[in-house]
Amino acid sequence: MEKINEIFETAQKEIKKAQTLKKLEELWIKYLGRKGKISLIFSSLKNLPPEERKKIGKEANLIKSKLESLFEEKKKEIQKRLKEREKGKKIDVSLPGERIKPGHLHPLTQVLDEIEKIFERMGFSVVFGPEIENEWYNFDGLNIPKDHPARDLWNTFWIKKKKGSKKYLLRTHTSPVQLRYMERHTPPFRIIAPGRVFRFEATDASHEIQFYQLEGLVIDKKISVANFRGIIEEFFKSFFKKRIEIRLRPSYFPFTEPSFEVDLKFPGKGWLEIMGAGMVHPKVLLAGKLSPKNWQGFAFGLGVDRLAMIKYKVNDIRLFYSNNLEFLKNF
Ligand code: DAH
Repeated sequence: MEKINEIFETAQKEIKKAQTLKKLEELWIKYLGRKGKISLIFSSLKNLPPEERKKIGKEANLIKSKLESLFEEKKKEIQKRLKEREKGKKIDVSLPGERIKPGHLHPLTQVLDEIEKIFERMGFSVVFGPEIENEWYNFDGLNIPKDHPARDLWNTFWIKKKKGSKKYLLRTHTSPVQLRYMERHTPPFRIIAPGRVFRFEATDASHEIQFYQLEGLVIDKKISVANFRGIIEEFFKSFFKKRIEIRLRPSYFPFTEPSFEVDLKFPGKGWLEIMGAGMVHPKVLLAGKLSPKNWQGFAFGLGVDRLAMIKYKVNDIRLFYSNNLEFLKNF
C-alpha cells in the first residue's frame, strides 16, 4: 500500500511539471503503459493472498483512474497553450510587409504651395480674404456698379439673408482681396491672394461651380505693363521649369485699364488662356483709399485649376473635386 501511494505521489509531481506532450507521453508509458509502474502492480496481484489482493487491487484501480484524469487535464492544458502560441505566431516577421500607403496633399494644394513659393521668392506676401463676401467688395468697389452689364460676367451665388442693408454672396473671384488689402496698407507692396471662388454655372469638363484663383497685386510709384510681363514670365518659367512663350491679348475687365488676357503657348496645343490682368483702374485705387495721383500698379487673376490641369495633363476639372482615390493617388 505504501509503495502504491509513493508511486502516486511522484507520478502526480512529475505530471504537474511536464511542459510538453512528448514528456507527458513518456510519463504515461512510465506509469500506465503496458510495463508501467501501475500495470506492474496489477500483474503482481496474483502473488498476493486473496484478502490483500482485493484491498490492493481496489487501491491500485483508484490511483489508476486518478492518474488518468491528471494526464487528461495536463494534456488539455498543454494543447491550449500551444494553440495560443500558434495564434500569436500569425505575425510571421519573415514575410514581406504590407506597405502602408501614406496620404499626401491634394494636387491643387501642391500646385498652390508651389505657386506661392515662386511668388514669395520674388518678394510677394501671401494674403487671404473671406469666401463669403459682400456685394461692395466683390462688385461695386471693383468698378462694377449695380445694373452694370459687366456683372453678367460673373454668375453669382447670392446669399438670401441680408445683414443690415448689405447683400452677401459667395465671392465670384479673388479680386475683392485687392480692395481689402489696399484699404489697410500703404504702398509699395506686392501680394498674392489665393483662394476658392464660386460661380453659379452648369458644370462640364472645364467649368466647376467652385475652383481656385490666385490674385496678384503690385502697387508702387512707377509700375508698368513691362514689369508685369517680366514678373509673369519669370513665374511661368519657374513653374513649368522651362521657358514658356507668353502673349498679352487686349481684353476687358472693369477693374483694370488697359486690360488683357495672358495666353501661354504650348507645342502642339497652340495658345491657352491662363489669366486676366491689367493696370489697376484709378477708380479701384480710390475705392481702396489710395490716390491714383501717387500710386499705380498692375493686378492679375490666375486660374489655379487651369494651371494644374496643364501641368498634370488632366482633362476634366471636375476630377479635382471628385474625391476619387484612383485619380488622387497619381499625384
Ligand atoms: N477677377 C477676374 C475673373 O475672375 C480675373 C482678373 C482679371 C483678375 C484681371 C485681375 C485682373 O486682377 O486684373 O475673371
